[in-house]
Amino acid sequence: MKAFVLPYAGAELPQLAEVAPPATSADELLVRVKAVGVGIHDSYFLPGDATYPYPIGIEAAGVVETAGLAVTAHHPGDRVAFVSSMQPKGGTWAEFVAVRADSLIVSVPETMSFVEAAALPVAGNTVLRALRALGPAAGSLFIAGGSGAIGTLAIQLAVRRGWRVAASASEGNRDYLRSLGAELAVDYRDPCWAAQVLRWMPGGVDAAIAVQPDTSTGSLGVVRDGGGLISISGDRLEPERGIVVQVVPHSADVGDELSRLMLDVAAGEVRVEIEQVLAFEDAGEALAKVATRHARGKIVLQLDA
Ligand SMILES: NC(=O)c1ccc[n+]([C@@H]2O[C@H](COP(=O)([O-])OP(=O)(O)OC[C@H]3O[C@@H](n4cnc5c(N)ncnc54)[C@H](OP(=O)(O)O)[C@@H]3O)[C@@H](O)[C@H]2O)c1
Repeated sequence: MKAFVLPYAGAELPQLAEVAPPATSADELLVRVKAVGVGIHDSYFLPGDATYPYPIGIEAAGVVETAGLAVTAHHPGDRVAFVSSMQPKGGTWAEFVAVRADSLIVSVPETMSFVEAAALPVAGNTVLRALRALGPAAGSLFIAGGSGAIGTLAIQLAVRRGWRVAASASEGNRDYLRSLGAELAVDYRDPCWAAQVLRWMPGGVDAAIAVQPDTSTGSLGVVRDGGGLISISGDRLEPERGIVVQVVPHSADVGDELSRLMLDVAAGEVRVEIEQVLAFEDAGEALAKVATRHARGKIVLQLDA
């Protein structure tokens, strides 16, 4: 099969190669991959016990080819989208991938394209976990990094849950942030952005989600005393003024919510923002684009276009 692999441990750039499809166990599915979501993590999220050549990638959408004897929830022919990370047998940037049945796997509605479906698992999972960590009571929310894969979903889902949202991106993305539902859009390069948020919500917002790396400290400055802050990128910072600081919880199971999100997207109630769909062979271009941290929404690779 075709796959984008790291040829050996420590290799920096994945390359297109012909490799054997993965052998599956009784508790795994073999999925024929139709589209792959691309993220900044793809080039470095590797298990310590990876077998080489190692196909990179942690999310995709496709069709179940075979299901192991111990798998009851999924069957050959099912349309699925999934997160499969840190698997020694390899990741999703391949024509076939072995997916453990206990991975985050959701059905793809018939009316949804595999390209849209592939854009959702990692970003959807992350946003849903972040929103759950904020708790059920909605208030005012600042999102640092509103125009990327996570931010575009975070704005929409937070607004749907009743949050009033301010978000940051560069000047050229202001109208875009508002089109997603942000009441206030600020330019993170403008030295006055925090003052603008505090003018919008005197005393500070109830909570912030710091998506981009190194945005947590700045975000903390616009949160009210006793509010909350979720760091998506894992920034470390000292809590202050009674603000509860959390890294997005990895253990939270949001599978049911992700399934509902797929239906909401299929019904046109939530937009999946995709900046670019590239052919599988152009995966290097996709990695380079996400590495700039200036993609608008998601980049997706399509197989069998
Ligand atoms: N914890 C988890 O489970 C988890 C899961 C997935 C990802 N992550 C983390 O989330 C981060 C990536 O999020 P993503 O995929 O949404 O990123 P992304 O798609 O690469 O975000 C790109 C967008 O961010 C904006 N941006 C860049 N620098 C910014 C800044 N300093 N302040 C505000 N906006 C900025 C850009 O806007 P402009 O072009 O207008 O500058 C661009 O539209 C990474 O750190 C990744 O490790 C964590």
